[in-house]
Amino acid sequence: FVMDAARVGKANRGLQNGVQEASAFMKLDKKHLSQASSFLARSKSICILTGAGISAESGIKTFRDAGGLWENHPIEKVATLEGFVEDPRHVWEFYNARRKAADTATPNAAHIALARLELGRLRKTKKAGSSNGNGTGHRKAKPVSILTQNIDGLHQQAGSQNVVELHGSIWKVRCTGCHVVSRDFPVELPLLPRCGDCGSLLRPHVVWFGEHLEADVLETAEFVVQTCDLFLVIGTSAVVQPAASYPFLASRRGIPVIEINKEKTPVSAIATVSLMGLAGMILPKIIPD
Ligand code: OAD
Ligand code: ZN
Repeated sequence: FVMDAARVGKANRGLQNGVQEASAFMKLDKKHLSQASSFLARSKSICILTGAGISAESGIKTFRDAGGLWENHPIEKVATLEGFVEDPRHVWEFYNARRKAADTATPNAAHIALARLELGRLRKTKKAGSSNGNGTGHRKAKPVSILTQNIDGLHQQAGSQNVVELHGSIWKVRCTGCHVVSRDFPVELPLLPRCGDCGSLLRPHVVWFGEHLEADVLETAEFVVQTCDLFLVIGTSAVVQPAASYPFLASRRGIPVIEINKEKTPVSAIATVSLMGLAGMILPKIIPD
């Protein structure tokens, strides 16, 4: 699966205005919240796909909302290998700005609710004396898996343990020469950062358009999508592949799909429950303390 750039233009719509947001809130009724809560209570293995919308309330810009990152930064220039080869300094300026934004951001109520959900499940499985899926041998479905398209690290900062970073991490760099991946770099990298081993240029360890997701990441994500019994999709416009296909694959397996988003997306049409509003307001309601 290659990151699909063809759909990007079409997806660059953006949220129209506050009116749309206000009406979305009114659709959030008690019936839907309690439906979502009972699906959660019954589930043994939850797959949660998250996108930039879950970090919006932490002050991190999304991509396709009004004023989003793709509005002022052409994707070809900052999120493709071709753009990097042409002007690595410009690309590093863009990622340094995003490192700075992610560094000062803190997890919001949505990240925290998901971390609490996982912790609660891990405690329960421990009490029951069963494995939480970390055992040796065959891969086992875990009670909660987060597949995130975000590179900001906020899920982990909130305490989530089982996080698959589909698009890499802003806190990692990869050498363009010897391909070694390293982490824990300073917030602002020098322009241009170079590999301590071979002297080649370092690049952000993130997936750009036209690039493949890492094989083990893809394999883990597909396993989770194929084995979960409940699918949550939160704060993503669901237009970038392969992540966008996951809710549809889950739906085809006949399992419930709960969507949380402040506006309608392609997933809304197949969602079992569609909760329209801010993730930081909705998640604490369906994942109580
Ligand atoms: P987008 O910017 O495309 O979509 C953000 C989604 O979050 C939209 O559907 C918004 O309606 C919703 N949203 C915004 N604020 C919200 C809130 N507070 N609560 C709930 N929903 C909210 O971001 P992604 O779908 O994550 O890839 O974009 C996917 C990928 O495209 C990114 O990982 C990135 C981008 O190109 C790369 O850069 C590799
Ligand atoms: Zn190197």
